[in-house]
Amino acid sequence: MVGRLQNRVALVVGAGSSGPGWGNGKCTALTFARQGAKVFCVDLNREAAEETVALIRAEGGVAEGYAADSSRNEQIAGAVRACLERWGQIDVLDNNVGIGSTGGPVELDEDEWHRVFDVNVKSFYLTAKHVLPVMERQGRGSIVNVSSIASIRSPKGVAYVAYNASKGAVNGLTIAIASQYASKGIRCNAILPGLMHTPMIDFLAEQYARDAKDHNQAYQRMIEIRDKASPTGKMGSGWDTANAALFLASDESAYVNGHLLVVDGGITIRA
Ligand SMILES: NC(=O)c1ccc[n+]([C@@H]2O[C@H](COP(=O)([O-])OP(=O)(O)OC[C@H]3O[C@@H](n4cnc5c(N)ncnc54)[C@H](O)[C@@H]3O)[C@@H](O)[C@H]2O)c1
Repeated sequence: MVGRLQNRVALVVGAGSSGPGWGNGKCTALTFARQGAKVFCVDLNREAAEETVALIRAEGGVAEGYAADSSRNEQIAGAVRACLERWGQIDVLDNNVGIGSTGGPVELDEDEWHRVFDVNVKSFYLTAKHVLPVMERQGRGSIVNVSSIASIRSPKGVAYVAYNASKGAVNGLTIAIASQYASKGIRCNAILPGLMHTPMIDFLAEQYARDAKDHNQAYQRMIEIRDKASPTGKMGSGWDTANAALFLASDESAYVNGHLLVVDGGITIRA
């Protein structure tokens, strides 16, 4: 059987996960490899990238790891060069990096605002800057940007001004690239995940429960709040994000361009 990404090379940026378990990037890298892609796994954390590579190779897939900070121009240029030296093409760019940060405009420190924008927005601009010329030469390519439903709604009770604004900027970047490159065979779409149960969330739940006397119950409470907030009664998973990314990366979405694909179990339709 031929995979949906057979003979394709995918560059996944943020291909690790920030803790044990399955993050969006790790699931996406594995899903692409299972469909025949050679996957170049880039992450700030070398061990996290190598863990994903090992998982892919253990299943008989093809992958290479590379450590880079995607918010640094020279580092991401190096990653793109290394991928081209290894496999000579880049058909799919999956931009998955993202960091959260709490606080409204008054509470949020200016340096923190810049940090969130550097990682969440500048990274996507830089990867596009270096990959688009490659895709243009090939006459083909698909870019998948991982945004968030935080780009179109704001949860009650918690202020995430930098995160909300940065993900809104990802949507703007996505449609700008989609429009400029449509005639060159290059598509650019975004995924807007909702409440997904990834290691990032386990980390936040740990933080929330850290000072509570009933640590385990407090941790569980936070998970339950997120589960209950979903119309399905359960958070989504990194695999849900990965399956959406696979559709947008593959030729099955050949006429889908500049789309913001919500993957949230229906939260936004209720908001
Ligand atoms: N988990 C959710 O509920 C949720 C919801 C909506 C959107 N998202 C988005 O999905 C994406 C991934 O989230 P996740 O929950 O899987 O997180 P995660 O923290 O498990 O994975 C992100 C990976 O990106 C890497 N990374 C961070 N900064 C980097 C940098 N500057 N350069 C290179 N790599 C870097 C981390 O090391 C980590 O391996 C993010 O963009 C996030 O905003 C997550």
